Amino acid sequence: MAKINTIAELKKLREDLQGAAQANAGKPLVNVSLATCSVASGGRDVMAAMKEETAALGLDVEFVQSGCMTFCFAEPTVVVTLPGKDPVTFGYLDAEKAKTLVQKYIKDGELVDGVIPVGYERIVL
Ligand code: FES
Repeated sequence: MAKINTIAELKKLREDLQGAAQANAGKPLVNVSLATCSVASGGRDVMAAMKEETAALGLDVEFVQSGCMTFCFAEPTVVVTLPGKDPVTFGYLDAEKAKTLVQKYIKDGELVDGVIPVGYERIVL
C-alpha cells in the first residue's frame, strides 16, 4: 500500500474505498477467517473451494479475509452476508461443506448445517 502523505490523499483513498464498497453492495460477501487456527484447520482450502464453486456456478461474490473472529473451536469459519440480509457465521467447514454452502446458501438462500448462533457466548480470558 502506498504511503499517504496529505489529507487530500487520505480523502481520495476514502472516496475510492467507499466507491468500491458501493459497487459491491449488491453482491454476496464472504468473509473467510484466516487466523492461525483457521489456516491450521484448512481455512485456505475452504476459501479456495468456495471461490472455485462460485466460479463454476457463475456467481458474482465478493471474498475478503479476516484475522481472528474468536471461533477457534469451530474453524474453519466464514461469515456470509447475502444482500439485504444479516450476516450468518458458518463453522466446522471443509472443502466439501464449503461447496455445499455455496450451492445452497449463497446460490439459493437455503441454510446449511454449521451455523454459529449470533448470541453464542464467547469466553474471553
Ligand atoms: S486465534 Fe483462533 S479464533 Fe482467534
